[in-house]
Formats: sequence, structure tokens, C-alpha cells
Amino acid sequence: MALPRPETGRRSAPVPLPLLTRRHGGRQGLTCQYRCGNACAHDEPNTSGNEYFGDVMARVMSRRGVLRAGAVLTVTAGATSLTTACSTEASTEAAQAPALPQGLAYEPVPPNTTDAITLPPGYESNVVIRWGDPVVPGAPEFDFENQTAEAQAGQFGYNNDFCGLVPLRGAGERYLMFSNHEYTIEPLMFRGYDPANPSEEQYLIGLAAHGLTVMVVERDRGTGRMTPVLDGQYNRRYTGTSEFVLDGPAAGSELLRTSADASGTRVLGTFNNCAGGVTPWGTFLSGEENFNQYFANAATVTEPVAAARLQRYGITEEASDRLWERFDPRFDVAQEPNEVNRFGWIVEVDPHDPAAPPAKHTALGRFKHEGATVRLADDGRAVAYMGDDERFDYVYKFVSDEPMREGDSRAAREHNRTLLTRGTLYVARFTGDSPAGEIDGSGRLPADGAFDGGGEWIALAAGDRSFVEGMSAEEVYVFTREAADAVGATKMDRPEDVQANPRTGTVYLALTNNTDRGKADAARTAGPHEANPRVDNKHGHVIELVEEGNDPTATGFGWSILLLCGDPNDPATYFGGFDKSQVSPISSPDNLAFDPHGNLWVSTDSGLELNINDGLYGVSLEGPTRGRTTLFASVPTGAECCGPVVTEEFVLISPQHPGDVDEASPEAPKSTWPGGPGTQPRPSVVNIWRVGRAGQPGRIGD
Ligand code: FEO
Ligand code: CA
Ligand code: CA
Repeated sequence: MALPRPETGRRSAPVPLPLLTRRHGGRQGLTCQYRCGNACAHDEPNTSGNEYFGDVMARVMSRRGVLRAGAVLTVTAGATSLTTACSTEASTEAAQAPALPQGLAYEPVPPNTTDAITLPPGYESNVVIRWGDPVVPGAPEFDFENQTAEAQAGQFGYNNDFCGLVPLRGAGERYLMFSNHEYTIEPLMFRGYDPANPSEEQYLIGLAAHGLTVMVVERDRGTGRMTPVLDGQYNRRYTGTSEFVLDGPAAGSELLRTSADASGTRVLGTFNNCAGGVTPWGTFLSGEENFNQYFANAATVTEPVAAARLQRYGITEEASDRLWERFDPRFDVAQEPNEVNRFGWIVEVDPHDPAAPPAKHTALGRFKHEGATVRLADDGRAVAYMGDDERFDYVYKFVSDEPMREGDSRAAREHNRTLLTRGTLYVARFTGDSPAGEIDGSGRLPADGAFDGGGEWIALAAGDRSFVEGMSAEEVYVFTREAADAVGATKMDRPEDVQANPRTGTVYLALTNNTDRGKADAARTAGPHEANPRVDNKHGHVIELVEEGNDPTATGFGWSILLLCGDPNDPATYFGGFDKSQVSPISSPDNLAFDPHGNLWVSTDSGLELNINDGLYGVSLEGPTRGRTTLFASVPTGAECCGPVVTEEFVLISPQHPGDVDEASPEAPKSTWPGGPGTQPRPSVVNIWRVGRAGQPGRIGD
């Protein structure tokens, strides 16, 4: 691969960045309740007797596994080395102020708790669109005090998370932008909201504020600003009542049929869409994540098999937090037992074709999908990488049977929309190469200087064939977690984005955190192992994974931990061997992106775990600055930094749930971003650019 171009005369590496006072507590209460149904306060649903990594390593670390990892390292030598520099070497190099890689030459933003977007000197931003702004022509302007479901269905939804862009064909600098609206926070959306007695209109507004947005945006090359275009052809909203088509091998299964849909192929709505991806064929993917919280009364189900399945997915045992089951029995598993099985999928939307129904792909399995990102194999087959965001759950991939068809013809587009309906679904097992006794849970590097090893992708099902004993193929797709339990997948620390670097093929895994790693409850937790080496993992880590032969369809891989996140003054952190006095503190990596130079960008969901606002960080992957993290943008009070898009000319971020701080309410908002004093906080998309010569936009990080 082409290494980032070294340049002389660049700014030297940054000075140490002081941390603010540590405050424990993590994410705020409303986010925990309304985003994931207080998942961290509940027992982990993975009670499988799955082998923990230390056991796996001790028993399975075969010569074949060693050779497999070694082969990967050999193949990638000279490309992306998995070998990390020792800290002594890195410190020496850093003292010589190594040149910063192209794309990362900006002054790091000091960690802060400001209710604003904070950027490096020389950068500016504008808000592209906010919750409630019109998306569909004719939709009314937002009126916080007079919300209606009808208005919301034509306006930008709440809590946008993933953001993707594809160029609009033949339209200058216009793009089709995709945002998903993960979840609603009713106590911040409605003045005087009574959680025990939501009104039907509040329920309907909540349904309409979920879902997806496709819309045209336009960037002004002269000013750098990006603005929405109220386009009547492409702009649309998908909400909690829009029709989605279930496709792939489990579509039509008995497990997916309901009283409203005897076909088992038509679903109303999509909920809790978290991250996503842009496919090489120009569509958008989005992951249905904490869908469990929208369904109620799992405790009423006593049949053992059904009850175990509900438990494994953490379906709410009693009443749900939003109480939607009061308004529609489909949210009550006692009344409509299969409706819940129609959520937890990867969704695909073709932005260029508003008439094409959005799809839920059963071939990619059902779990708490963070998102899916696609890389093409040399033969054109599509490989989708996916994380299941739950403590002690798994990393997956899907390999399509068919190759992508090049071109933009209708036939090519229709073919490519079937790629994620036929293929093989795999789950990952990680094996370490250091003795188990050296992985002591402290984060201290083992004697070989790296948390690293090999691993394998274990096939779960391909089309109608199941590879899991005792489970049909349909059961594997609908109850994928149980299938992965059965084959001994590795329990991870909340897998979030999993994404290949388009410049190198190296795959990056964000493991956001897991404070229960190493806790004593052996039935629900697991101890440290080389791929998740810290107990009480508050700050998460980032793994690099190289497929055997750099072939994404391979069933073997090598891996190495790039970052053990946290306060760099904490000895339990690791920054690729780089001098820790010269990095920005970072906690809870969530979303990943790559710039055109091959640098990694990480956005965080730390919830004040370090008492600093969340943000977007550039991460050097090559050369003497490998492992250096620098804060590029921080988001307002209470917000999470979602949806990074990093191009040579602009960066998009999606500050989600601004103002979500304990005891916040519309009467006492804790953020007034983006509108300023006297306004309510509104989740938004933000466009960032660098002011170059003569006020014209310059290149990012240049
Ligand atoms: Fe919605 Fe996994 O973050
Ligand atoms: Ca090792
Ligand atoms: Ca996320």
C-alpha cells in the first residue's frame, strides 16, 4: 500500500494534553433508558457456557493457529504491519517530533465540557439539518411547542446516528445523504412528559421520529457550507410505520409470521438503527440495534424454548419504557409473539430508487446489529462485517455468493440489491498467542509485546444449510446469538463498528467498553483474555484484524490490539506503542471512518467517563506516529459523537442526544445547542471544513 506521504515542515507532534478531573458514572440516565433499555443495569443475556478466551487459548492454540497468524503477518509485511513498536522506540522517535501524516496535521482540540462544537484553529462548521427540520417538500417548520405526528413524518427524525453520503449523479456537488434516527427521548422531546401515561399523540410522534431519512444536500465549494435541498424526487422518511420487506433465506418463515402478516415478509417500521455503511454499489445499510426495549411482557412467556430465546435477546420482561404496547398489541410478545423476531436485522435502502422497498436482510443474521460495512473481495463478492453491541457478544461477517455487478444500469442495481440475500454467515473466534498467565487483566502487555494472535471465522449457515447442530437454517438466522453460542464464538467487549480500511484491507473493530469483564458472576461474565485483556474495561479498545492473504472471504485471520483507550496517564492504556504523553485521551470508541489517505477516524460514546465531551479523533496507523490519537472535534454537552464522514474537503459528524444530562428537561435544558440561549437542544448533522487561502475551503488535516 502507499504509505501516507511524509512531508517536511509540518507542525510537530502535539504537546501533552491535560485531563480534567475524572468523574465516574458514564452515560447519562435518559440515554441509558431510552437508547438501550438500561442494558448495562441488566444481567448480560449471554449465559452460554461458551469457552472463554483463556480456555480457548490454552487448549486450542494449535500449531495450525500459530502458522495461520504467522502467515497473515508475512503476507502483510510491508503493507500494514501488525507488529507494534515497543514503547521505548516510540518515545525516542516522538522526541524527534515526527511529521504528522497527511490528513492529520491539525492542532488537537483540548478536551473540554463546552456546550458547543469545538474545532481546531482554522476550521469552521455549519449545521446541515436538525431534528424537526423539513425533509419532504411541504413539511412544516419545526415547532417544539406544537409537535404532531403528521409533521414529524415529513421532518428530520430524532437522534440521528449513522450518516452516509453518495454523490448525486450528474448534479455538481450534490449528495444523497442518509441518516438514521436511532431512538427517541420523550422526556426531552415533550414538555411535561409523564412516562407512566404517554398520550397516543406522543406515541405516534415517537414512531414518526424513529426510522431513516434520505435527502439531497448541497455543498457550496466557495464557502464550504452544506445545506439541505427540499427535493421532491429523492427526499423521503421511513418511520416506525413504513413497510419493509424481509428477504433472504428466513423470509416467510413461520418464525416471522404474525396475525397482520401471514406471509412473514412485510414489516412495519424499523427501530433503534445505530451505525451503518455505504455499499460499493451505492446503497445504505443500517443496523437495528437495541430493538428489545420496544417489546413488552416477555415474562409472560413460559414455554422454555421461547422464553430462552426472549431472554437471550434481552426482551423486556414487564412493561416497556415507552409503553407502546398500550397502543399497538404488536409490541406485546404475549399477544403477538413473532413480531419481535422481525426486528434486529440489517436494513438496506437504495437512495437512487425511491420506489424500491427498503429491505431487512435475514441472511445477515438477527442480533443487536451495530451496523454493517461492506468490502469487496478480488472476485467481486461482497463481505459485510458486523458487530453485536452487547457485553460478551460477538463479531460476525457475511460473504455473498454472487459478485457485484459493475455499472449503474437498472439491471446492475437490481442484481446488487440481492447480494446480501444469498451467502454464508460466520462468527469470529479469537485465539491469543501469549500464555494465559500473562493476560492478567491489568492491561499490561504480555512478554511478546502485543495483545495479538490468530482466529477463525466459523460458518453458521449458508442459504438453506445450517452448520449448527440442532438448529435449522431459519433458526440460525432468526436466533443467531444462540447459533454463535453453540459454536464457541469469542465473547467480546461490546462490538460496535467493524470496518475495513479501503487503502489496506485491514479490518478495524471498535470494542466500546465492558465494565463487567472479569466480574465474579461466571454464569454471565467472562474473564480477561488476549483479545479483551482488561477487567472492568471502562474505556474500550480497537483491534486490527488482517484476513489470511488479505482476502476478506478467508476463514482465518490475524489480529492485534491497536488501542487500549482511556486516560493516557493510566498505565492500563496503550496507543500502538506511541508516546502516551503526546496523545489525546479517548474513551469508548464507537464509530469508525477512514479518510482518503488511509487514516483511521474514531468517534466516541463515552458519556463523560473521562469527564470530557465526546468527540471525533484522527488516528495515525502508519510510520512513527502510528497509534497517535488527536481530538479533531468535540460535541456539545450531553451529546455523543456519531456518524463521522471524512473526506479530503469536509467532515460530517452527528451530535446525538445533546443536553442529555441527569435531570435535564424542557423546562431546565442542559444544552441549548444548536439554537443558542432560550432554545431546546436538537440532534443534528454538522459539516466541518478548513478555511484555506483567501477564505476558500482548504483540505482537511493539511
Ligand atoms: Fe447505538 Fe452500539 O451504539
Ligand atoms: Ca501476544
Ligand atoms: Ca453506536
